[in-house]
Order: sequence, then C-alpha cells, then structure tokens
Amino acid sequence: MRISSIEDYNSQYKKSVEQPEEFWADIATEFTWKKKWDKTLEWNFETPDVKWFLNGKLNITENCLDRHLKENGNKTALIWEANDVNEKSRTFTYKELHAEVCRFANVLKNNGAKKGDRICIYMPMVPELAIAVLACARIGAIHSVVFGGFSFSSLADRIHDADCSLVITSDGAYRGAKDIPLKSVVDEALLNCPSVKKVIVLKRTGIEIKMQNGKDVWWHQASAELSLAMENPDECPAEEMDSEDKLFILYTSGSTGKPKGVVHTTAGYMVYTAYTFQNVFQYKPGEVFWCTADVGWITGHSYLIYGPLLSGATTLMFEGIPTYPDAGRFWSVIDKHKVNIFYTAPTAIRSLMAMGLDFVKPYKLDSLRILGSVGEPINEEAWHWYHEHIGKNNCPVVDTWWQTETAGIMISPLAGITKTKPGFATLPLPGVQPVLVDEKGNELTGNNVEGRLCIKFPWPSIIRTTYGNHERCKEAYFSHYKNLYFTGDGCRRDEDGYYRITGRVDDVIKVSGHLLGTAEIENAINEHADIVESAVVGFPHDIKGWGIYAFVICDHKRDDKEKLKKEIVETVTKFMGPIAKPDKIQIVSGLPKTRSGKIMRRILRKIAEGEINNLGDTSTLLDPAVVDEILRGKV
Ligand code: WT7
Repeated sequence: MRISSIEDYNSQYKKSVEQPEEFWADIATEFTWKKKWDKTLEWNFETPDVKWFLNGKLNITENCLDRHLKENGNKTALIWEANDVNEKSRTFTYKELHAEVCRFANVLKNNGAKKGDRICIYMPMVPELAIAVLACARIGAIHSVVFGGFSFSSLADRIHDADCSLVITSDGAYRGAKDIPLKSVVDEALLNCPSVKKVIVLKRTGIEIKMQNGKDVWWHQASAELSLAMENPDECPAEEMDSEDKLFILYTSGSTGKPKGVVHTTAGYMVYTAYTFQNVFQYKPGEVFWCTADVGWITGHSYLIYGPLLSGATTLMFEGIPTYPDAGRFWSVIDKHKVNIFYTAPTAIRSLMAMGLDFVKPYKLDSLRILGSVGEPINEEAWHWYHEHIGKNNCPVVDTWWQTETAGIMISPLAGITKTKPGFATLPLPGVQPVLVDEKGNELTGNNVEGRLCIKFPWPSIIRTTYGNHERCKEAYFSHYKNLYFTGDGCRRDEDGYYRITGRVDDVIKVSGHLLGTAEIENAINEHADIVESAVVGFPHDIKGWGIYAFVICDHKRDDKEKLKKEIVETVTKFMGPIAKPDKIQIVSGLPKTRSGKIMRRILRKIAEGEINNLGDTSTLLDPAVVDEILRGKV
C-alpha cells in the first residue's frame, strides 16, 4: 500500500478515482479479517448513508496487536515520556501491550461492560489511556474520549449525550507544574449523569479523592482481582465486529452550543488511518514516531494510537507540555528517544519560536527525518523556522489538512515525494476528491480559484453519523451543497493545483488548534449571574492563530469592571475548561442586532479584527448607535 514516487502517486490517485472500490479493496486485503466483506461500498450523500466493506467481520485490536505478535512481538510498540523529567520513561513491546489491553478488557467485562456500551475515557496522557481505548475496542464497547482540559459541565454534556454506562479516569493529572484533580471533576459531572454505573480510577498523582462504595473502583485493585478469578487474565478474545459497527464517538464543536458526537465505524477507519499513516509519513520499520496531540482529539486517536499500531510502528506518548520544565522539552525528548518523525501543531511551533533559539541549540535533533504539522493553517514564518531550526533544512515538512469528521489526513504532501510549498497542504491523498464551490454551490473548476472546500466522493473513514441525531449530521455536512460533503473551510487552489486552506467559514474558531464553538463559549459566559447576553468572535492572534473576543452585557452597572472580567474568565474555566478562556472581554450596553433580533456577528468580527473602517452595511441594524459605542470601548 506504500506510494514510492510522485509518478506512483499520480497513478494511484488516478486509480482511486476511476476504480475506487477496487483501489480500497486491494488495501483492505492486507488486514486480518474474521470474515471477508462481500460488497466494498454503498453510499448516498443525501440521507446521508455510507457503508464500506459491507458484512466484513473483524476486530481492530487484532490488527493493531495480535497481527504483529508472531514476527514483531518483542518490538517496542509504545514509549511513554512522563511530565516530570526525572520520572522514568516506560516502554511496552507489542507482546506487553497486547497483554495489558487484554487484561484491562477483562476488567471492563468484570465491571459489566459489553459490546455496544458507551464508555467515557477522561484521563491524562499515560499509557493506561491508550490501553483503555484499545480495551474498549477489544470488547466492542464504543469509546468516547473527552480531553482532560474540559471541565465538569462539558464532560457531563458528553457523558449524557452518549448515555455512557462507565467512566475511566484517574485521581489526578500532571500538566507542567500543575496537578489537575480529574476525579473530582468527574464526581461533579456525574451528579447529572444517572446512566453511569461504574467509574474505574487509575492512581496517578496520589492525591486524596472520594471513592464511592459500589460505584468507584481502583484500576490496580480490579486488575489484581482478575488473577484470582481467571486462569489467563492477560488473554481476552477479540469481539467479532461488523465493518460498520461503531468504533468510537468523539465530540467536536459546531455552530450551535451543543457539541456533535462524531461517529466512526470499524473497518473504514482502520483501513484509512493505516493507509494515510504509512503514506504521508513514509514510515520505515524501526522508526520512532511522535505525535504530540492529546488522545482527547482526533489526531491522538488516529496518529498516536491506531495508525501507528496498525502499521506495527513504535509510537511515543508524552504526558507533559512543550514548555515544562522549559521551552526545550520537545527537543530534549526527540534526542532522548531518537525520534525520527515528529508531528505537532502550528500553535506549539509558534510559541516555541517566540521563546528563542537558546532552547533549541543544546539539542542535536539529528534523528529527525520528517516533520509534520496539523490542526490549523501554518504561517510561512513558522513553517520556515520549523524547517530550518528543527529539521536543519533536511526534513520534509508535511502540512496535513483533515478534520475530526474525516478521521484521517485528506490533503497533504507525502513526505519526500510531493514537492512542498510553505502554507500549502498541497495535494489530495488517493481516494480524496476535493471540489471548491462558491457560496451558491457552483463548482469552481480549473486552477487559481478560491471558494469553500467540499468533497464529492466518500473515503473509507468519512463520518457516519452524529451520535443520537442523524439529522444533525445531514444538516451540518451534507445539506449545504447537493451531493457534497461540506468541510466548513475556505480554500484556494493555486496555479499548480495545490490546495491552501484559508480557515473556517462558520461559527467555530480554531484557538491554539482546538476547535471551539462560539455558542458554546457564550453559554459558559452566560453562566455568570450578572451577564445577560454575550457574543463571541475570533480575532487573529500571533501564537494561538485565533484568540477569543467576548462582547458581554451586564444586567446592572458594575463599577469593578476588571473584577467582573476576571470572574467571567473564571466562569468559563469552571464550566467549559481553560482552553475556552476569552483573551479579550468588552463590556457593552447592547449588541448589533437586526430587526428580527439576530446578532450581526459579521460586524463584531470586523471590530475584533480591527477592520473598523470597513464595517459594511449597518443600515439594517435595529440600533446603529450601539456600533459606535462598541467602537469607542474596543479592547
Ligand atoms: C479543522 C478541523 C486535523 C485534525 C485535528 C483537528 C483546521 C486542520 C489544517 C491544516 C489548515 C487545518 C481546519 C479543519 N485544520 N488541519 N493543515 N491547515 N487548517 O481536527 O478539531 O476537527 O479541526 O482544523 O479548519 O476544518 P478538528
């Protein structure tokens, strides 16, 4: 399945468009199936309904683990680097990881979990997180990982929406110099989640926590008890799953306040993540691959866990943050573990770039062969810094465009094969058929055009539904333009046919690479007792890509404005989490609204972006005077 040259890419791409079913069937054959599929593809973008490898039977963990045991059982599957430089790193061979996954799968079963159940995982970046994910897949339970930076109310919404019966967490988490009390966040969330019957708790930081009798179970105790109850606790048969059985739910922000539970299914996800991992990064056996994303995001699912393990690779997991104990941590980890392929986000590159080269100089970085970027557009300055100072002008940079909904990389150079151009995600992968349309949905053909990015043919890991609400999936992605999947991104195709993603065209913002719904942040702000209404928009931010600008209306005069702003930040942190903290808050007496009461965000966006001389038509506003007032008070 490996593409080896640009000519090879061109011919593979051609085949993938002309004979998509044959193309993907050939690739799927390389995996272990309990029963082969009998039809490769069935699809309809109107309903929408997409099925790949129909009636095939398999288990993804057999492909991630068991398949490698015979020849590569003693090869390192996972290397873990702790938050604290002095804590020993841990490694797991494929054989060891297989045993751990089976063991924890047995723990899950012992605690009542079974095929089809939804299990929420809210954990720090420790090996047990990967083990928990794979153990769910082993028994056919649907995992829903929630990023540890979300707080109780976001966690409760997600647990509730998926109707989870079990939560896996830890007492606490280390993140840089901070200790985060994860279990107490879970306790608070569960006050409103009656569906949860059991909570399995890993001991990580040792802080004191409440353990509720009959409900809360220590991971280590449950695991130890297995040895008494079972003869072979390190073995667990892999549940037989249908190709289209749900593998996981992962929540992503949308234009409404309620996050969408993006659903991915078993076989298509497996085939596409393995294929893209091997081709984009041109992984060679024996190499160490490091994806810095948290498993709470799709990048962590697809390129920290599944893609590398499906390929028999060595994957590195890091618990900490790029700036702890100092801004050289990434580079020290690369030298320590001889990382060959490094995959991170532009926001991290920009923040480390801002700290200066003194943090880079002490390190050799000579193991590096390939660099990757993901999550948001990478500006040219950051691209060049990354290429020159980290890659020593020697490593291709792959700027990979994709989404939670696509599950795998869609537009990207193939490392060392596709000629790169800073700021461009370059060309679509085989199987991906991008089209650009104007606002009315007319296709823009030829080169040198700019419009909205859509995809016109299904690839194996396309979103199947939004959990519990298929209509929402249709509305959000398949109803803007007939027979097209709409990405929500703006995009330019240049004179060479290269794609450059220009950013979101909807009401979500990318803050440090995290997708946040403005409505979700507004809901959190409105939890403050004195706030009656708020409107959130993005503004360009040097490090984060986009920052959060909140316009808020207070229901009575408060003279302590700075204190109020601080309280608002605290409220957002409490309800949604620190990633959604507004960077700028402006207290206003009114918001620009149309006569029908709709907030004109276009105007607020322009004000936040500083484009104040070009506000467009304000004549349809109910009260145009509020715009002048807002302009006078701009922060
Ligand atoms: C949105 C998806 C990609 C997986 C992690 C984020 C933006 C992503 C790029 C890139 C420009 C990018 C898009 C996309 N985005 N990669 N290489 N260049 N923009 O997944 O949270 O679902 O976000 O991230 O706007 O739609 P996500």
